[in-house]
Amino acid sequence: MQIIKTNKSRLKEVNFSNLPFGTVFSDHMFICKYKDGKWVEPKIIPYGPIEMNPGAKVLHYGQSIFEGMKAFKNSNNELLLFRKDDNFIRLNKSAVRLSIPQIPKDIFINGLEKLISLDNEWCKKDDGYSLYIRPFVYASEDGVKASTAQEFTFIIITSPSTRYYSGDINLLVEEKYTRAPQGGVGFAKAAGNYAASFYPTRQANKKGFQQVVWTDSIEHKYIEECGTMNIWFRIGDELVTPQLSDSILDGITRKSVIALAKDMGIDVQERKVSVKELFEAYNNNKFTEVFGSGTAVGISPIRSITFRSEKMSFTNNNDSISSRLKSKLQSIQKGEAFDSHDWITKIH
Ligand code: COI
Repeated sequence: MQIIKTNKSRLKEVNFSNLPFGTVFSDHMFICKYKDGKWVEPKIIPYGPIEMNPGAKVLHYGQSIFEGMKAFKNSNNELLLFRKDDNFIRLNKSAVRLSIPQIPKDIFINGLEKLISLDNEWCKKDDGYSLYIRPFVYASEDGVKASTAQEFTFIIITSPSTRYYSGDINLLVEEKYTRAPQGGVGFAKAAGNYAASFYPTRQANKKGFQQVVWTDSIEHKYIEECGTMNIWFRIGDELVTPQLSDSILDGITRKSVIALAKDMGIDVQERKVSVKELFEAYNNNKFTEVFGSGTAVGISPIRSITFRSEKMSFTNNNDSISSRLKSKLQSIQKGEAFDSHDWITKIH
């Protein structure tokens, strides 16, 4: 693979004590093109603008998918990449649904590992820091015919990050708009899923809520996700999360929460959960905790859920399931706890 290094690193200009999520990018990026039926010319180049024709199909039809991944530094300054194979598999599942050619594993893994090794100083070892990794693929063919492109571009960029949210997360149950219908692309990390969520989220923001709770597209009765996260409820002694379907993202952090909760002896249920069930359980003091999970946010406790004029509020303490899961997950990611599930790759 060709590697063209920058002759002027921007690392020294970065204020690591003020890093709003996803705004600062590391020195290099990986890029590979798909032409004539093959992925060709994988290379690492300095981070910078990409050439694109105004007719590029992605700009007109949104044929684009992405992943979110993270790497962490341990106390010996070694870079640890979390669950890379799972992200690779999911990217290719999204690719099938969006009619994008499969990315070969060697191109994805070599590009990713070389890139983060080269920019490894962008990841700080102090608590709370990680390197957020954003692989994405888009239709770069020049042409506005509404049909699948024949040319694509695959890029990986990385961004030093700390926390995603600052402050409480209060949710409003969304009853009009839908994140994803059955048979649609909700299970995939399609760029358009996020574009379609912005308007309803802004309406909720205006009413003082940080995010919405997405409900099913037919009856708006069953809960699917919240904001850009999978959602979890502690109901009695169970930890409940909506079961996967076409319209729910198969989150890698979601999978990790299931595995860690099971390790802790917690009864995890993946099933349908209605808004009505939550209110009944809340009124009977059985619904005691709610949190979201995602790569960017990690595990994030939620302060309240509002449905029409009714509100359920929650407090989070060190003994909550979310605090215990969060500290276990973080200690595995930072190489402080034994990686019994084999989730970590040490980058050399
Ligand atoms: C992630 O958690 O990586 C996501 O994909 C959410 C993102 C839209 C910030």
